[in-house]
Amino acid sequence: MGQSERLGVGGYVVTCRKTSAEVRIGVAINDLDLEQWEAYEDLITDSLWLLGPRANHGMHTSEYWGNFVPQIPYQAMRRFTRRGELVIDPFAGLGTTLIEAQRLGRFAIGVELVPQVAKRARELLDLEENPYGVQTEILIGDSTDLETVERVRETMARWGFSSAQLLIMHPPYHDIIRFSEDPRDLSNAPTEEAFYEAFARVVANFAPLLEPGRFLVLVIGDKYARGEWIPLGFRTMERVLGYGFRLKSLCVKDIQENRGKRGRYHLWRYRALKGNFYIFKHEYIMFFERTR
Ligand SMILES: C[S@@+](CC[C@H](N)C(=O)[O-])C[C@H]1O[C@@H](n2cnc3c(N)ncnc32)[C@H](O)[C@@H]1O
Repeated sequence: MGQSERLGVGGYVVTCRKTSAEVRIGVAINDLDLEQWEAYEDLITDSLWLLGPRANHGMHTSEYWGNFVPQIPYQAMRRFTRRGELVIDPFAGLGTTLIEAQRLGRFAIGVELVPQVAKRARELLDLEENPYGVQTEILIGDSTDLETVERVRETMARWGFSSAQLLIMHPPYHDIIRFSEDPRDLSNAPTEEAFYEAFARVVANFAPLLEPGRFLVLVIGDKYARGEWIPLGFRTMERVLGYGFRLKSLCVKDIQENRGKRGRYHLWRYRALKGNFYIFKHEYIMFFERTR
């Protein structure tokens, strides 16, 4: 039996028929039932993500400056994983990905360099509900180091996984926020080139853990330095593409005013007009597929 689907293509509406095999392939990396596709109103399918305020359900908290909104891992996991599969986050921070994974019934391993941050993430995870009885682990370690990857593999083996089904990476945006004094911290990379090199090592370390045909999600913004827009997003994208991935989507997400800039909008407008630049109001969410 085929399935009818109406697609808007270049302004035209066309109707195509999908075979059962195509439908099966389409749902193999998530739990969506495409026979019911109209019911998934909460799932974003456009490249412009206007997410609005941060979701604050469960143990999610905005106490960590530099964390991303839970809506990002939620969207990625619903589209690109099935319940019971494994998600890895090499820049776990306060565990937004892991908390959301636990809520959605995905196993998750995070790596975080700063011990106090990792410990706080563990506390939040232990307080979060675990409706599907999955496991989560947050390792204190350096994701540029292969020894850390070995520890990730040990956890995977203990849980019976030979590969992961999703990688979510939210690295520092170079030195915009310094997360620690540790020289291994990507936010302390002495130059932009050193930052890209360290980021590329993390991709090289973790890409082999990902099942072919599955997704790596990169969340990153650009920075401004010495009167110049530094396209960290595009430069890190090039690094990922160098490790056997193809770009499936490049989404742009709105940035809500953060604590630092709140109430100072007029000052920034003045600076922008004077300095001939535009104020950052977006960051990128990039979706890469590991080639088979
Ligand atoms: C942008 S934050 C990620 C925030 C996270 N998505 C959240 O929602 O909490 C980047 C994190 O990477 C960590 N980090 C920096 N260098 C690292 C490294 N070499 N290995 C592991 N973690 C690192 C920082 O300490 C920081 O917590």
